[in-house]
Amino acid sequence: MTAKRPPHNFLPAEYDRTAQPRINHNYLSQQFADYRDIFEKLAELVEANDFTLGRTVDRFERAIAALLRAKHVIGVGSGTDALFLSLKALGVGPGDEVITTPYTFHSTVGAIGTTGARPVFADIGDDYNLDPAAIEAAITPRTRAILPVHWSGRCCDMDAIGEIARRHDLRVVEDACHAINGSYKGRRPGTLGDAGCFSMHPLKNLNCWGDGGFIATNSDELHDHLVLLRNHGLVSRDECVLWGFNSRLDTVQAVVALHLLERIDHITERRQAHARYLDAALADIEGITVPARDPEIEEVFHIYVVRCERRDALQRYLIEHDIDAKIHYPIPMHLQVAAKGLGYKEGDFPRAEATCRSVLSLPVHEFMTQAQLDTIVAEIRAFYRGA
Ligand SMILES: Cc1ncc(COP(=O)(O)O)c(C=O)c1O
Repeated sequence: MTAKRPPHNFLPAEYDRTAQPRINHNYLSQQFADYRDIFEKLAELVEANDFTLGRTVDRFERAIAALLRAKHVIGVGSGTDALFLSLKALGVGPGDEVITTPYTFHSTVGAIGTTGARPVFADIGDDYNLDPAAIEAAITPRTRAILPVHWSGRCCDMDAIGEIARRHDLRVVEDACHAINGSYKGRRPGTLGDAGCFSMHPLKNLNCWGDGGFIATNSDELHDHLVLLRNHGLVSRDECVLWGFNSRLDTVQAVVALHLLERIDHITERRQAHARYLDAALADIEGITVPARDPEIEEVFHIYVVRCERRDALQRYLIEHDIDAKIHYPIPMHLQVAAKGLGYKEGDFPRAEATCRSVLSLPVHEFMTQAQLDTIVAEIRAFYRGA
């Protein structure tokens, strides 16, 4: 264990809660400016006395299944639970290996580790996503599943990953936490493997007022297993057929998410338009590398990420100029303290490591104005001109 202790109940010091940059990543008070409408829907919930799963969660699951064109959707407590429960339901556990990316949020890897399986990393490509050739090279007789992450809302090369999985008889659990409403060759990320996992944590493209998540699957068997796992393994009030968890999607959060779901196409379109503008405006700035876009993939830009020369200096400059530039994320997973026992070292995944050293995320949410986007571009230009 590290000597560093977590900040109990509060955000880590890296988030300065008093700082309110003019051009901010956080837009939640704007997004929920109509919170009184949500209060009215919550009042209906109280009057209906329907607090645990029930009609609201059912309605939410059906609405998401329609959006994703998935056979089943199961609401759970968080994106992390979605990943963990999917792996458990597919039989992943001690002695198994699951291949994933070192360039992700910690939860992807934590979900593998907490099943008792061993996370095995493979390097990424220029699209920030798992490189299929690197996956193939990481397969051993103990490999049980592949866990691709659709980073920033850009779907991985799922044809190639699916083909590898079929050839080696592996399960595929998609971390689609960034990718709601995206598309891959006309299909939805999160419906391209055995299970697709989504988060509704605040600032996700579809979010709620705390924690929430869901799993999409086209398998009846997996659906039935997940419905049991999320609710104590109960088939009736008094009968339990397997030891499960309490990871139901909170009904209050389902009310909030259903409210926002009405705006998901608008949210997606705005983010895409802002990203298109930034792609074009940043393209000729020496020092910035915008990732090549694939016409067969509709990205949804949960975050807008570019690679930058002198990244840390640029981030400081933008923050000084009131622009909330963030790093998602500076430390790859194989170099985290939690990964110590896995035996990796610096240099093992050079592309993921170089990405962690060079990426910067710029605000692209639906409330960004043209003037704010122009300011971002102008300040980045000024930085590289040596202003
Ligand atoms: C890529 C990725 N996977 C998983 C998660 C976990 O989701 P949650 O916070 O809902 O547990 C996140 C959340 O931030 C994420 O960014």
